[in-house]
Amino acid sequence: MTRTVEIAPAKINYWLSVGEKRPDGYHDVSTLMQTVSLCDRLTIDVSEGDFITLEIRGAEGLSMGQDNLAVRAAQVFLHHYGHPLGIHILLEKRIPIAGGLAGGSADAAAVLRGLNRALGCPFSIEQLMDMGAEFGSDISFCVVGGLAHCTGRGEIVEPLEPTPKYYFLIANGGESVSTQVAFSELDASPSMRQFTSVQDCYEALIRGDASTLQGQLYNRFEDSVLPRCPIASGMLSVFRSLGASALMSGSGSTVYAVFSNEEEAKNMQAILPFKTHYAESVFPILDDKAGQIALEEEEDG
Ligand code: C5P
Repeated sequence: MTRTVEIAPAKINYWLSVGEKRPDGYHDVSTLMQTVSLCDRLTIDVSEGDFITLEIRGAEGLSMGQDNLAVRAAQVFLHHYGHPLGIHILLEKRIPIAGGLAGGSADAAAVLRGLNRALGCPFSIEQLMDMGAEFGSDISFCVVGGLAHCTGRGEIVEPLEPTPKYYFLIANGGESVSTQVAFSELDASPSMRQFTSVQDCYEALIRGDASTLQGQLYNRFEDSVLPRCPIASGMLSVFRSLGASALMSGSGSTVYAVFSNEEEAKNMQAILPFKTHYAESVFPILDDKAGQIALEEEEDG
């Protein structure tokens, strides 16, 4: 049996615009995404056999069947690999669910990377990204992580040079938002004028001063999602009233504040009237062929 441990980092969106609905039912997006150190952890055991099983710790009510993206990832991987295997995945959840942080996509990407590594890297990173795009819009980005400009329905990933490091307070009040519903609501509401461009946002991030970012961060979903998420909306107001640059992530309802200085982030965390996760920006560790962020690898038998 081969055991592989993978971490699955969440992502935040610094910038997110949504275009028209396409004939395939998806929407074109343009988004700047960054992986952060808030992560799930997956232990993947690969052995002889013909099964895929999933065990989840740290989250209730999550499906352990085919509609869990971690299981789906193993199925898609095996389909391309062409041989049955016995796969057991232990998923330790820390990323809030249905929160706009791509937790499920991060888990799926970690399964693709972990299986690839356990089997001696039969696939390139690009092939893993293509596999991810077969069953989710954010999975290709999560395979590689770091900072990227993503277009198409999200699956076209243009990696960008890392920015200076940022520190995040990430807050989720348990208001879950369906991505599908959030996208479909936009079809009924007129397109908002954007005051920034993705290029302007990236250039501001490169300068490394989080206190000047507020005018550059943008999320098209804020106007439609926040009115029915009073907790998220209130937390965002608190962040901004304390002078932090802050935004909702993805289709919500998680919100975050961004800092260029760790101390500032921790000082603000200490005075907040609600719970936050502290996280840092994480960039891919591009080793040999795999590009995965791995904690450890064990083999026995
Ligand atoms: O691709 P993913 O499974 O993450 O998307 C969930 C749902 O969100 C899709 O079924 C679709 O309704 C909507 N979506 C969209 N446009 C995108 C991404 C997602 O309309 N670019």
